[in-house]
Amino acid sequence: MSSNEYSSHNVWITGAGSGIGRALALHYAAQGAHVVISGRTLDKLHEVRDAGASLPGQISCLPFDVTDAESVNSTSEALRSIVPHLDLAILNAGTCEYIKKGYLDPTLFRRVMDTNFFGFIHSINAALPLLKAASTKPHLAGVCSLAAFIGFPRAEAYGASKAAARYLLHSVRTDYSGLMDVTVINPGFVTTPMTAANDFPMPFEMEAENAALRIASALKKRPLEYNFPNRLTWVLRLAQLFNGIWYRQISKQRRTDNAAKRRTAE
Ligand SMILES: NC(=O)c1ccc[n+]([C@@H]2O[C@H](COP(=O)([O-])OP(=O)(O)OC[C@H]3O[C@@H](n4cnc5c(N)ncnc54)[C@H](OP(=O)(O)O)[C@@H]3O)[C@@H](O)[C@H]2O)c1
Repeated sequence: MSSNEYSSHNVWITGAGSGIGRALALHYAAQGAHVVISGRTLDKLHEVRDAGASLPGQISCLPFDVTDAESVNSTSEALRSIVPHLDLAILNAGTCEYIKKGYLDPTLFRRVMDTNFFGFIHSINAALPLLKAASTKPHLAGVCSLAAFIGFPRAEAYGASKAAARYLLHSVRTDYSGLMDVTVINPGFVTTPMTAANDFPMPFEMEAENAALRIASALKKRPLEYNFPNRLTWVLRLAQLFNGIWYRQISKQRRTDNAAKRRTAE
């Protein structure tokens, strides 16, 4: 559905070449916004821009590797040459890597933290001058994850990076209190290239377009935190409350899986 609800809005979305970011970009362009999309792969950004060509809004491409601290200032300047200010910045670029065979590989941790945590810092620094230039109170939102609620097997790096990013945003809110709204978005499982490699059940999984609609609708109210879907959120809230049961259950499952693997190897 298209409208002109956001016709005077400028939105920046990182990691918008695929998945949730792509769906968000097309959603906001359908609502009339000028959307600047970033990611590392120009071809993917062009595909999104072309997919939105008939929409009321406009999509502009700005390549940006969020791990590249050196390019923050030039990216900010490039953003300013496309739009004079930002009403909304959605930090969405992210990566997921699971640890292998129980080994806490520091190189893997650095890769994941570089994108999911330092990537947020670099993106915020690039967006801030343009958010400050907005004539109405600007809005910063960051895509974290329900995975940060409690420990999951093999998710040491991903979960920790999202928990750190979540804390970062909550803390930024306190420093920009009254000047900028900040929302933490915690999705459950969404069908995207990132989850395509997952080899475990993904309860309540949904399409990226559905996730984008929910996120955009929630962002209108500028909540401190938006968790979805509700059912998975409640399961994980209960798990936090009764974490002894959660970790016993996970350990039992891991012991069964490991025993099955040993039997297969013998
Ligand atoms: N899918 C889920 O179930 C789920 C659940 C919870 C949270 N999330 C979070 O949602 C966000 C979007 O993920 P997705 O599921 O939509 O996966 P996705 O389709 O893989 O999207 C991630 C995007 O981030 C970009 N990206 C990765 N590294 C980057 C970097 N260094 N600099 C700039 N862009 C980078 C990728 O494009 P390039 O490779 O071209 O740069 C890609 O377009 C992520 O933060 C993810 O952690 C996803």
